[in-house]
Amino acid sequence: MRRKLAAGNWKMNGLAASLAEVEALAKAHPAPRSEVLLCPPATLLAQMAWKAKGGPVMVGGQDCHPEASGAHTGDIAAAMLKDAGASHVILGHSERRADHGETDALVRAKAEAAHAAGLVAVICLGETEAQRDAGTTLDVIGAQLRGSVPDGATAANTVIAYEPVWAIGTGRTPTLAQIAEVHDFLRAELAKRLADAAGVRLLYGGSVKPSNAADIFATSNVDGALVGGASLKAADFGAILAALDSA
Ligand code: PGA
Repeated sequence: MRRKLAAGNWKMNGLAASLAEVEALAKAHPAPRSEVLLCPPATLLAQMAWKAKGGPVMVGGQDCHPEASGAHTGDIAAAMLKDAGASHVILGHSERRADHGETDALVRAKAEAAHAAGLVAVICLGETEAQRDAGTTLDVIGAQLRGSVPDGATAANTVIAYEPVWAIGTGRTPTLAQIAEVHDFLRAELAKRLADAAGVRLLYGGSVKPSNAADIFATSNVDGALVGGASLKAADFGAILAALDSA
């Protein structure tokens, strides 16, 4: 019932020459069963959307401002992402929470702005290693979910990505039981608030690669992945997409 989603986050990587990866991905996977999303840096968004037009790859932003327009030098409004060809925007990534002090309340305001502009918000949550070691993972995730997800969230306009901070870019991943515990918890918590919680896609993110993708995709309530490093090369991301398609 939930269409799976393979989402790539290029972070602060990629120049115009990198757009060849999008063409390579679309050529190798012209009609995937799963949805495919790539979120390049803002400088490449319009060009990527143009190259991806008519193919399977959707394009998204990595952040947006909570306001619709105004005097905010260097920021990008949700409607601008949409205008440039985006269908989605990643919000509340742990790197933005850490580098820019983004709070749950700010992430929620950004998600409301994304929804108002007609974008799907990919809202990220995750515990630090210290929080996991302290046994507070579900408390942390529950608080982030309550604080970051707006009341207007639906299965159509919101995707949740569970990304343990200590697993991002480190090559380390939680056990499948740990992933299942958090994803089952997320599903149950969403059901307390959203009428169509059963339809909300829950992505796992943090060191997903071709060699661990199939196991992760076979895990309870995992509907896809948010992939950083392994989304930069079409061969790697394509292999993850293939694993998702056959999950
Ligand atoms: P990674 O990043 O796949 O490079 O660990 C994931 C993310 O931050 O979305």
